[in-house]
Amino acid sequence: MCGIVGFTGTIDAREFLLNGLMRLEYRGYDSAGIALTHGGGLQVLRVKDKVAQLRKAVAASDIEGSCGIGHTRWATHGVPSEVNAHPHCDCSGTIAVVHNGIIENHEQLRETLQAQGHRFVSQTDTEVVAHLVEENYAALCGQHPKLQARLAGACATGQAEQQAALAAPAHAAETTLFVEAVRATVAQLSGSFALGILHADHPGTIVVSRNDSPMVIGSCEQGAVVASDIPALIEYTREVVYLDDRDLAVLHADGSIEYFDPAGVLFTPTTYHVDWSIEDAERGGYPDFMLKEIHEQPRVIRDSIAQRFDAASGKLLFNELPLSAEQLAAVDRVYIVACGTSYHAGLVGKELIEAWSRIPVQVEVASEFRYRNPIVTSDTLVLAITQSGETADTLEAVKQARTAGAHVVALTNVVGSRVTREAQTTLYIKARPEIAVAATKSFLAQVALLTLLGLYLAQERALLSAAQVGEIYAEMQQLPAQIEQILAHAAVIEDAAAQCAQADTALFIGRGVGATTCYEGALKLKEISYLHAEAFAAGEIKHGPIALIDPAGSQDPLLQTPVVAVALQSATYDKMLANIEEVLARGARVVALATEGDTRIAKLTDLVLYIPPVRECLSPITASVPLQLFARAIAIARGCDVDQPRNLAKSVTVE
Ligand code: AGP
Repeated sequence: MCGIVGFTGTIDAREFLLNGLMRLEYRGYDSAGIALTHGGGLQVLRVKDKVAQLRKAVAASDIEGSCGIGHTRWATHGVPSEVNAHPHCDCSGTIAVVHNGIIENHEQLRETLQAQGHRFVSQTDTEVVAHLVEENYAALCGQHPKLQARLAGACATGQAEQQAALAAPAHAAETTLFVEAVRATVAQLSGSFALGILHADHPGTIVVSRNDSPMVIGSCEQGAVVASDIPALIEYTREVVYLDDRDLAVLHADGSIEYFDPAGVLFTPTTYHVDWSIEDAERGGYPDFMLKEIHEQPRVIRDSIAQRFDAASGKLLFNELPLSAEQLAAVDRVYIVACGTSYHAGLVGKELIEAWSRIPVQVEVASEFRYRNPIVTSDTLVLAITQSGETADTLEAVKQARTAGAHVVALTNVVGSRVTREAQTTLYIKARPEIAVAATKSFLAQVALLTLLGLYLAQERALLSAAQVGEIYAEMQQLPAQIEQILAHAAVIEDAAAQCAQADTALFIGRGVGATTCYEGALKLKEISYLHAEAFAAGEIKHGPIALIDPAGSQDPLLQTPVVAVALQSATYDKMLANIEEVLARGARVVALATEGDTRIAKLTDLVLYIPPVRECLSPITASVPLQLFARAIAIARGCDVDQPRNLAKSVTVE
């Protein structure tokens, strides 16, 4: 997704803007740019390249100032190019806009503005915002003929005249006219947006607004800051505000910030404290964020289960859940709505919640749930799983579920994210910031929380005794050490990956929770190595997918079709061995995930990834770790960028 940053204060804005954009690189992008107001003028610099190139271009230019905005663009409308890169300007070149999201009514707005004489230079939806602010500002400044003449002249004449027009002394219009122009503009927009807007007439002022797309704002000793996500500003402030839809904020150079609701009424917002550090948002000596975050997983599991069990009463605690014992007893259906990896966590949740609490659980891809008119009543519990808390499809599913009367609980990793304001209840996963596009530690945190929630529901419905709950909880406390053990044997996993890196497709097979581990393992592999990977319930493979195994590959082991088989000790272990035999007979190269001490499986394949023995219901947490390392090793062998895979974004805030 696009990233926006903004700074206004008493120091040079360039460093904040460039460093902030670097910290947002994980969101994925294809071009970048900044704009600064300085001495009554507005300067813009953009590159169809990475932020490192933008930094070089800035150093070679005369752009300067203590108030500016910046942007990394993940193209939605218009090809990646310098002309489509943000910031975008109005006709007069005195207004600059950066935007994350999609303006859904941009076409009709563009037609209207063009009919009014505005000239567009880009293919983007964003550019309409700049011209709309220009139009609204001109209308509001109607009583200032000097400004009117200047604005009108800039729209109808060429570059030279524009510069002459701009040379006229900046109009002394009140900042309120600028704010009002933006407020009027926001009211005319439909779709998703996080906007940062500058006006040359108002140096030192940044006006921001959002709808659906994330934005975080704060004050610091150097001034005021705004960004799409916390890593861009964490070095400057830990006290942040999350703007609500269509609210406006006006950031001033003295660090003061005014907040206005859509009706223009000033208000004081809620401030959140960010409790993680800048190190959390940095690589910490690892070659990439993905490896760092994989290695954080022992701590994440420890944090996820901490304070969840009261030894005195022998009970699990979910104090955040406002549901009474009667309400919990009345729950007759659970929907889990999510996307991508979070959806896979939901699949694990289904297995465990159904097994322990006997409540029917339906796991739904959020983008389908919202269009399917699902059966929802006041006895329906909806769990919305979203690491970012900003995924558009999941947010829409939450809104739908709430409208239908369900109790909606969000499981998210981001404090104050949009989903926390849409759901009635929020359960925070304790993963800390996850920067790599590929979800790893957040997946384990989600699964750990869902495991505890499943146990809690069974406890509250008196279907599991305190002893049973306590036993499983005690085994969960062993998981961090088991993950550490797996991480210590990464070399074996990387060697197996090297045997598979040249394949053009890979299959994953498993049963029960082993199948859910496969779905997530396949997604990890395909999304960072671009190797086509697909997961199946192992029993299903003979009903079609086994045709994907190309026997021709068996002449060269490196070209054999890899089949990753999750064959841990379980009730279906023997069935898994049979499935492994089936695929071997057709020339597959099997990479088996097995329980330490299992000697039978080593007779079938030489690529065995052993993990410590674990209760089957907890195996997705440990078994996913080798598959994360397996995917990362293949991606690196194939020369891929593991942190910023092509075409992907960390948070999909558009539908
Ligand atoms: C997983 O590695 C991907 N990053 C992607 O599938 C992600 O899980 C999905 O977009 C959902 O994101 P969310 O959890 O922030 O809603």
